[in-house]
Amino acid sequence: MIVPIRTLGDPVLREHSKPVSDFDRKLHLLCDDMLETMYAAPGVGLAGPQVGITLRLFVFDDGETGPTFIANPVLLDPSGTVVEEEGCLSIPGPYHPTPRSERIRCRGQDVKGQDLEMDGEGLLARIFQHETDHLDGMLYIDRLDEAGRREVLADLRRLELGLQEPRARRRPE
Ligand code: NI
Repeated sequence: MIVPIRTLGDPVLREHSKPVSDFDRKLHLLCDDMLETMYAAPGVGLAGPQVGITLRLFVFDDGETGPTFIANPVLLDPSGTVVEEEGCLSIPGPYHPTPRSERIRCRGQDVKGQDLEMDGEGLLARIFQHETDHLDGMLYIDRLDEAGRREVLADLRRLELGLQEPRARRRPE
C-alpha cells in the first residue's frame, strides 16, 4: 500500500525516532508499504518519520543492492568527503550539492531482526547518511550553509507556486 509522504513543515520530520524492538508481522507490512511508496515516488530511500513512523528504520535501493530494509542503523568508519547533489522526498523538487562522507559502514538489523552490516561507497554511503539523519530529526538542508539552505527553500517555494517546472527527479532520498 502506498502511504502519504510527510513533507517539510510536518513536525514528525524533526522528531527523534525510537529503536525498533518488535520484529513482527506488523514490521514486515510496514517494510512492504515503505518500499512500495519509495518506488512509486520514485526515490532511492525512505525513512520511518517520512511516513509518520518514529522508529529507527529505513528502506532503500541504490540500484545495486535491490530493495533493502535496515532497522537500528549505526554508522561506522566514515572516510573521505564528497559533495554531490542530494534531494529528499520530503522536500520534493529541489536538489543541492551536499557534503557527505565518501565511504561509511552501516550496521543494523534486517526485517527479521538478524544482524547485518554493509559497506557503502558513493551513492550507497550517501543514502546511509541521509536516511540515518532522518531518524535523528535531521534533513539534508541542515547540512548546507545558510546560502545553500536559502537556495533550496527558494526553489521549493517557486515549485509550490508553479513558477518553475520541476526538474526530472533523479535520485531523491
Ligand atoms: Ni530524505
